[in-house]
Amino acid sequence: MAKSQINLYYKNATSDVLGEEHGLTKIQLKDLAKKTEPSILHLNRERKDGKTPYRDLPFRAEIPQQVKKLTAELKDNCENLVVLGIGGSALGNIALQTALNPYLYNIDNRQRRGPRLFVFDNVDPVQFASFLDWIGDKLDKTIFNVISKSGETSETAAQFMIIRQLLLDRLGSEGCREQIIATTDANQGILRRITDDAGFRNLVVPDGVGGRFSVLSAVGLFSAAMCGIDIDLLLEGARDMDKRVSCEEFYKNPAAINAAINYYYYNHGKKISVMMPYSYHLKDLADWYRQLWAESLGKAQDLKGNEVHIGPTPVKALGPTDQHSQIQLYREGPNDKLFAFLQVNSFDKDIKIGPAPDCAPELDFLAGKDLSTLLNNEKKATEYALLQSKRPCLTVIFPEVNEYTVGQFIYLYEVTTSLAGALFGINPYDQPAVELGKEATFALMGKPGDEYEELAQEIQSLTDIDTAYLV
Ligand code: PA5
Repeated sequence: MAKSQINLYYKNATSDVLGEEHGLTKIQLKDLAKKTEPSILHLNRERKDGKTPYRDLPFRAEIPQQVKKLTAELKDNCENLVVLGIGGSALGNIALQTALNPYLYNIDNRQRRGPRLFVFDNVDPVQFASFLDWIGDKLDKTIFNVISKSGETSETAAQFMIIRQLLLDRLGSEGCREQIIATTDANQGILRRITDDAGFRNLVVPDGVGGRFSVLSAVGLFSAAMCGIDIDLLLEGARDMDKRVSCEEFYKNPAAINAAINYYYYNHGKKISVMMPYSYHLKDLADWYRQLWAESLGKAQDLKGNEVHIGPTPVKALGPTDQHSQIQLYREGPNDKLFAFLQVNSFDKDIKIGPAPDCAPELDFLAGKDLSTLLNNEKKATEYALLQSKRPCLTVIFPEVNEYTVGQFIYLYEVTTSLAGALFGINPYDQPAVELGKEATFALMGKPGDEYEELAQEIQSLTDIDTAYLV
């Protein structure tokens, strides 16, 4: 496999293309370089001081070793792998699977390189019931990977408790122990306690790595390795990107340029960032990015404690699907968005379009062309149309989609997020606003404690339906 680099192309966000009202001038870019270079140094220093442990994940050889050892133990007798997790404990797994395995991986045995993979990041009873209906007689060939750093996330805990009881009922305590793999904190949290008590085999969410930055740890690597994804190559891609995003020269550092352009446009009326892959395989990486960007950069306070309520809104779109749903708004609605296309130069497989029916010579222009040519020309067409409307566009170019380029992309966007956090002057690693929702759920679900009782009453007074307003 060729070891090709992904690249960030930014000309179509500049004034050379868009004019000075909507495009970034060379002088503005120079100012951004001046502002961003200290943040690159700062990040590199933080990393040396061990303050950003996610940066070290691709270099920690023991993580893939543990993952591969467990994979080798389990794979032969595993037909189905079920991930129970949510947010950062699920989105990376989904993104890797969609990016690096075939579309019909779960359905077509010939296309499978490991167990079928199901990731449950929801607690919809109808969805889960349908799954339980199907899996009921296959439990001894199914591994459940429950992933939770804190171990107290209600959704994951609820799924786990359903599955645990099912396994105990059908397979007994020995069977239950065999079929569950826990991924959690090494030392603390409820899931750690349960794991030690039950004797589950387990993997670790590394210390200091938040969920949304954890895909290159056992959190994302285990399901990937089980499903035949080359995790060594994925990590190699991330390591190679690490060199590029550590570069202290602004113009050579793709994360710095990416963060700076996003920062600039946020401050110039474009507070929405649309990521639009032109590859079905990359669509869930846009979903993963959406969480990374939103949860890291959406903050009420800056590092000095000032109230700022800052954060670009990430939007996920898919080309060409959303050309037929969103582009009208994107071109003629408010000019408040920065676009980032994901483009693939060479696809694993291609298909020639058949001949046009005799009665439809108007379709001859498509006949004999590759489907990838149509797809990539649609990207160009959409980009052109947006540029005509003075909408700034970035493109991340994937020479091809494989473990090496996906590893680069993940690391590029993680470090871009850290740098954007530094430019905005906020802490990208916490998520205080998510915590309140978690606490509120505990209260409504009857967790004991006076504080929860009071909170439950307060919530109910706001959310109970007032029929006077019901139409
Ligand atoms: O990025 C994050 O920190 C969150 O999205 C968490 O991953 C998510 O809330 C799940 O938390 P936990 O792994 O503790 O169950």
